[in-house]
Amino acid sequence: MAMGTLPFPPLLLLLLIFSLLLSPSLALTSQEAAAIARRQLLAFEQHGDHVHIDIDIDIKVSNPRLLAAHRALHALKEALYSDPHNFTGNWVGPNVCSYNGVFCVPSLENQSVSAVATLDLNAADVAGYLPREIGLLSDLAVIHLNSNRFCGVIPEEIKNMTQLYELDVSNNRLVGPFPNSVLHMPKLSYLDIRFNDFEGPIPPELFLKPYDAIFLNNNRFTSGIPDTIGKSTASVIVLANNDLGGCIPPSIGKAAKTLDQFIFINNSLTGCLPVESGLLANATVFDVSGNALTGSIPPTLDGLSKVEQLDLSHNMFSGLVPSDICRLPALANLSVSYNFFVGEAAECSSTLDANLGKSFQDEANCMGNARPVQRSAAECAPVVTHPVDCGKTKPCGWPAKYYSPPPPPASSPPSPTASPPPPIHEPVILPPIIGSRYQSPPPPLFPGY
Ligand SMILES: *[C@@H]1O[C@H](CO)[C@@H](O)[C@H](O)[C@H]1NC(C)=O
Ligand SMILES: *[C@@H]1O[C@H](CO)[C@@H](O)[C@H](O)[C@H]1NC(C)=O
Ligand SMILES: *[C@@H]1O[C@H](CO)[C@@H](O)[C@H](O)[C@H]1NC(C)=O
Ligand SMILES: *[C@@H]1O[C@H](CO)[C@@H](O)[C@H](O)[C@H]1NC(C)=O
Ligand SMILES: *[C@@H]1O[C@H](CO)[C@@H](O)[C@H](O)[C@H]1NC(C)=O
Ligand SMILES: *[C@@H]1O[C@H](CO)[C@@H](O)[C@H](O)[C@H]1NC(C)=O
Repeated sequence: MAMGTLPFPPLLLLLLIFSLLLSPSLALTSQEAAAIARRQLLAFEQHGDHVHIDIDIDIKVSNPRLLAAHRALHALKEALYSDPHNFTGNWVGPNVCSYNGVFCVPSLENQSVSAVATLDLNAADVAGYLPREIGLLSDLAVIHLNSNRFCGVIPEEIKNMTQLYELDVSNNRLVGPFPNSVLHMPKLSYLDIRFNDFEGPIPPELFLKPYDAIFLNNNRFTSGIPDTIGKSTASVIVLANNDLGGCIPPSIGKAAKTLDQFIFINNSLTGCLPVESGLLANATVFDVSGNALTGSIPPTLDGLSKVEQLDLSHNMFSGLVPSDICRLPALANLSVSYNFFVGEAAECSSTLDANLGKSFQDEANCMGNARPVQRSAAECAPVVTHPVDCGKTKPCGWPAKYYSPPPPPASSPPSPTASPPPPIHEPVILPPIIGSRYQSPPPPLFPGY
C-alpha cells in the first residue's frame, strides 16, 4: 500500500502519535482533533472527487463485494491514529467477514455470495477520521460507530450505502453542517448523530424522510425547528442541548399519529407552547424543559392522554397549573418547577404521589406561601405583572433569528418560607427512554467533551 507523502512534518506526526500512545483512552485535545480533521481534508484533496479504488494485488478476494469491503476497511484502519484496545488488530488478510466488528450475510442480489451487512465499532475508543472509501461498504444495513473519537466530517460517499437502515455515529467529535448525504439513503430509519459538534440549521427535508428515530441532541444546531416537523413519521425526536432558538411550530400536532417521545430540552426556545401540542395523544414523553417558553399552559394539553413524563420546568411559564394536566391518566412525573406559575390545582400535589412511584415538582415558582420553596415576590413581579397573551403572538418563522433569552431575574434574598434556595443551574439530565426500543443517550465516555 503506497503511503503517499506525509501531510505533516514528521516531527509533528511523531509527537501526535507519541501523545496518543501515552494517553491511549483520554480525550483528544482540540489540537489533536484538528490535526486529524486536517489529515482527512488532505486525504480528500489527494483523491480529488473520485474515490481511488486501488486493489491490493496481494489479496485474493474473489467476491467483488468483499473486495470493495476489504478496500474500505483497510482505508478505515489506515485513517486511525489510535486503537488503544487493538480493536482492528485482526483486520488482516482477505477474510473480511472474520474481522472484529464486521458481520456478513448472504448478499441481497446473489444469495450464494456474502456481503458485509454490519460494521459495529461501538465503544472501541479508536481515534481517527472517516475515509471516503467508507462508501464502498455499499451493502451495509447497520453502521455503529458510537463512542469513539472520530474527528472531521462524515464523507459524502456514505450516501452510497443504499441499504443502510441504522446510522449511529453518536458520541464522537464529528463537525460540519448537518450531513445532508444521510437524506439520500433510501432505507434509513434510525439516524443517531447525537453528542458531536455538528452546527448550523437542521434541513427541513429531514422531517420529510420516513425515519423512525431522530437523535440530534448535544450538537450545535441553530436556526430554529423547521415546520416540516409536523410531517415527521418518527416515534422519537430528540433535539435537546442544541441552540435552536425560535419557537415550537404549531404543525407539531400533525405528527400525532406516530410521535411517542418529543424531547426539546435546553434549546433557547421562545414563544408560547402551541395549543396543537395537545394533539400529541400518542406521546409518552413530552419534555420542553430548560428553554424560555412563555405564556400559560394551553388547556388543550389535557389531550396528552398517554404522557408519562411531562416536563415544563426551567421556562418562563406563568398563570395557573390546571387540574386537568395533573390528572392526566398515564402521568408518572410532572415538573413545573422554575417557572412563574402563581398557583396550581389541589390535585397536583395530592394525586401525584411519590409513594406510587409518581413525582411532582413545583419549586421555584410564584405561589408565595401556598407551596414550599418559591421565588421571592421581587423575582416574580417583573414576569407576573406582564402576562403574555398567547392568542396575540406572532407565528413562528423559519429559519429563526438568533435570540438570546433574557437573563434570569436577579435573585434576591430568599423569602421566609424558602428553606435552602434551590440551585439555579442544575445539570440537564435527559429522561431515560422508558420501554422504548431505543436506549437512552450514551453519556460521553471520555473526559474533555
Ligand atoms: C493486536 O491484535 C493482533 C491480532 O489479534 C495481534 O497479533 C497483535 O499482537 C495485537 N497487538 C497488540 C499491540 O496487542
Ligand atoms: C452468484 O454468485 C456465484 C458465485 O460467485 C456465481 O457463480 C453466480 O453466477 C452468481 N449468480 C448470479 C445470478 O449473479
Ligand atoms: C458505490 O457502490 C458501488 C457498488 O454498489 C461501487 O462500485 C462504487 O465504487 C461505490 N462508490 C463509492 C464512491 O464508494
Ligand atoms: C445547553 O445547551 C448549550 C448549547 O446550546 C450547551 O452549551 C450546554 O452545555 C447545555 N446544557 C447542558 C446542561 O447540557
Ligand atoms: C395513535 O396511534 C394509533 C396506533 O398507531 C393510531 O391508530 C392513532 O390514530 C394515533 N393517535 C393519533 C391521535 O393520531
Ligand atoms: C420520575 O419520578 C420517580 C419518582 O419520584 C423518580 O424516581 C424518577 O427518577 C423520575 N424520572 C424522571 C425522568 O424524572
